[in-house]
Amino acid sequence: MRIENFTWNNQITQHLHTQYPIIQAPMFGVVTPQMVAAAGEIGVLGTLPLGDLPPAICVKLIQTTKQLTNKPFAVNIFLNPLPERTEELKQRYARCKTYVEHLAKQYNLEVALAEYEEVHYTDYREQVDAIIAEGCKIVSFTFGVFDNATIAKMKQKDITLIGTCTSVAEAQALEEKGIDIICVQGIEAGGHQGTFLTETLPEIGGLSLLARVYEAVQVPLIYAGGLYNAKTVLAARTLGAQGFAFGSILMGSQESNLAEFEKEALRQAQESDLVLTKSFSGRYARGLRNTFTQQLDHSDYILPYPFQNKLTLELRKIAKQKENTAFLSLWTGQSRGPYSGASIKEILTHIIKEVENDII
Ligand SMILES: Cc1cc2nc3c(=O)[nH]c(=O)nc-3n(C[C@H](O)[C@H](O)[C@H](O)COP(=O)(O)O)c2cc1C
Repeated sequence: MRIENFTWNNQITQHLHTQYPIIQAPMFGVVTPQMVAAAGEIGVLGTLPLGDLPPAICVKLIQTTKQLTNKPFAVNIFLNPLPERTEELKQRYARCKTYVEHLAKQYNLEVALAEYEEVHYTDYREQVDAIIAEGCKIVSFTFGVFDNATIAKMKQKDITLIGTCTSVAEAQALEEKGIDIICVQGIEAGGHQGTFLTETLPEIGGLSLLARVYEAVQVPLIYAGGLYNAKTVLAARTLGAQGFAFGSILMGSQESNLAEFEKEALRQAQESDLVLTKSFSGRYARGLRNTFTQQLDHSDYILPYPFQNKLTLELRKIAKQKENTAFLSLWTGQSRGPYSGASIKEILTHIIKEVENDII
């Protein structure tokens, strides 16, 4: 199909100062500073995921990335509300800890999970201070929206803000707060869903959501979820996206932080192996179904985020060391495309060329 007057240059490239309105999606645990730098080399926006890492580690990762590239890149953080520590939560934590340790033992994994008192999490305001101090100019976020004072602080520094929505109401909430760009995340996406206004996931497909968000807000939109070739980019563009984020198709890449056995497990995975699970973190995420997700999902042993995430941290670490995919969170979306092991430069350039040859 040919499209008249197609140009890559649009509000997203103008905001982000990139050649293409294409984004290497944030993927905590997968994206390396090398991947972010490689994205920049081909005119794409790289995104450095910082999750809820302590400020000192954020600074280190940002500095490493800055040493590798002078191109613009985004940093990405988690804005989940921090649950109140109560006696009831402490007791629940202890029950879940015992259950998970016993379960792992049944499968020959000896693991001592963190005690409740050892669970630490970072306040995003501290991360923001570190990000500002490092001179970052693009901040994307998920699981919530910043408080007004933090937004004002970042706007004062001319930082471009990219928020994540999974519903029309969330898009409107982000727009009301003055967020510059909204990333519409479809339910087909790999990893965590960014949902923040409801406990349950909005039951709407990604393309339906994109079309409705486009009608409901004025800010430029990025679409994330299931993009893997020119046709999927065109579909998102037709429905109102100006920016296109790629996650799962980059997981097998040369710059991916995944171990070879993890890449292989993802390569072998069939459609029926995928699940939306709260088992590892307490929030819905899409990835491979395994012993752990099957035992935990629909059980009473799932704590609210971030406690479940912290609880299972050591388990995931040991499982990775032992190359045990039954107890590892392997996130991936519904479309993984060719799942190439090439550099992300080749993978994304191929898609850019495909769009230019087939569509423009
Ligand atoms: C392994 C993995 C980790 C992810 N980590 C993050 C993250 O740290 N922050 C974030 O906003 N989104 C995260 N996501 C979601 C992606 O940014 C993006 O929305 C998703 O990958 C797009 O869908 P796709 O996987 O179909 O391309 C992650 C996704 C994956 C697969």
